[in-house]
Amino acid sequence: MDVTLTAPADAAASEVAAEAARRRTFAIIAHPDAGKTTLTEKLLLKGGAIQLAGAVRAKGNARRTRSDWMKIEQDRGISVATSVMTFERGGLVFNLLDTPGHEDFSEDTYRTLTAVDAAVMVLDAAKGIESQTRKLFEVCRLRDIPIITFVNKMDREARDPFELIDEIEKTLALDAAPVAWPVGRASEFAGTWDLLEKHFLPVDADDASAIALSGLGDPKLDQLVGPERAAALREEAELAEGACPAFDLEAFRQGTLTPVFFGSALRDFGVGHLLDGLARYAPPPGAREGDPRAVAPEEPKLTGFVFKVQANMDPNHRDRVAFVRLCSGKLVKGMRLRQVRTGKQVPVNAPLFFFAKDRQVAEEAWPGDVVGVANHGTLRIGDTLTEGEDLHFRGVPSFAPEILRHVRLEDPMLAKKLKTALDQLAEEGVVQLFRPLDGSLPVVGVVGQLQLDVLQSRLKVEYGVPAGFQDTIWSMMRWVTGEDKAALERFAQQNRRDAGEDHDGALVAFFGSDWRRKRAEEEWPMLRFHAVREQH
Ligand code: G4P
Repeated sequence: MDVTLTAPADAAASEVAAEAARRRTFAIIAHPDAGKTTLTEKLLLKGGAIQLAGAVRAKGNARRTRSDWMKIEQDRGISVATSVMTFERGGLVFNLLDTPGHEDFSEDTYRTLTAVDAAVMVLDAAKGIESQTRKLFEVCRLRDIPIITFVNKMDREARDPFELIDEIEKTLALDAAPVAWPVGRASEFAGTWDLLEKHFLPVDADDASAIALSGLGDPKLDQLVGPERAAALREEAELAEGACPAFDLEAFRQGTLTPVFFGSALRDFGVGHLLDGLARYAPPPGAREGDPRAVAPEEPKLTGFVFKVQANMDPNHRDRVAFVRLCSGKLVKGMRLRQVRTGKQVPVNAPLFFFAKDRQVAEEAWPGDVVGVANHGTLRIGDTLTEGEDLHFRGVPSFAPEILRHVRLEDPMLAKKLKTALDQLAEEGVVQLFRPLDGSLPVVGVVGQLQLDVLQSRLKVEYGVPAGFQDTIWSMMRWVTGEDKAALERFAQQNRRDAGEDHDGALVAFFGSDWRRKRAEEEWPMLRFHAVREQH
């Protein structure tokens, strides 16, 4: 009797565990032009998602100018539709979450990184670590996300691989373990030597045709790449093995070591090797921290959280789509989930997967997958969804904006409409919204200038509210918290002109300079000033 009662639950749990174990959910982080789009395209081709390749390339070209990008964004075209790309290879399901690839930062990029289990860091072999690589890396580090490095553009003039590895270690404080080593450079680039498997991967062969050798001493190597390159490889590989840290799966999974691959996305070289690395080393979904408990992916009951909200993706449906990363259980059509923040039931009648052009209705989804849930504005970034449990996932952060502007309305009659629009767009995460305590004009905060352009355009196009922006006297803000409620109250009173509330009513302070921020911290030692705040 007992057996028949428990068997279905066990079966469900093991099915969830098996499906979770074959998911790899990752993002690509890169400085613009390092080759993220090209690599994405090649990864998708390897996964058989060929119809996507043209679309991704279209994005690569269109991305060049801000106005083009905005038009695409407004049309809810490629850059949005490719937010999540799913492909299968070797029995594994890869979910590649796109992080917008333009110069300006947006908070979407940051938040997307809270929904992945690993990241591929693409470096331009001639440039190494660039400013945006470092910023994105710092966000990954907040959660110790394991990072695989792909040194791209090896077919061109490149920096010395030892120098690149040294730069990763020094600037990111991350151990770097080469797993492939380039043979020859630039126009002489012949392929890579797999330091772990001890085989040679010739540049013009497809990924399946690695040539196994008995070792670096194998005379076949000289025939394959010529005596000069073979001699250089022998010397360098020996030095690399001696001087660089060896690959260590545990250290990688803890986010303290990155395996380094070399290749050329454009020539489709090394991409399969990288994908094999992702398959082999990148972790499947793991347990996720929550209040009051952590959730393991194999738990049969569904949990997930919203990391992104997008409005009006389809002009024919003026609804919103919340991007939900599943953390445990199985999602099936028609489920009703509990939005923990409000206690409301959210029907999931048509969960969506996102492919290049069409939304596809998913039949079922598992931990590590991302699904779109259409709603009328109920779901917010940071929301946790469960089958009933009162549980909240941590870790979808807001970052203190670096640009603060007053919103100036051209037509005062539209004030109410502006308020509604700003509220909705803030909920969607397009901008952060602050209301100064002294009742002056609302302040919007963004991480990158592009977010302001998008805000202005959406206010006009979607809400019919033409608005402009006016400089503020501030250059930074911090969330203010403290156990001492009286001190918080005093701070708010004394700084009414330089303080406000965020969209959730949390106290914030604005500063004209870093010096002023430091002074406030000294003057109010009982309060804390945060640059990052978790949602809710
Ligand atoms: P991004 O998304 O990171 O911004 O970079 P993207 O893939 O668009 O690549 C930026 C430029 O670098 C593109 O050239 C692309 O063709 C080139 N590229 C990418 N991978 C490699 C590589 O492995 N080797 C070489 N030599 N070039 C590479 P573009 O001329 O700016 O654009 P396009 O006209 O080719 O689209």
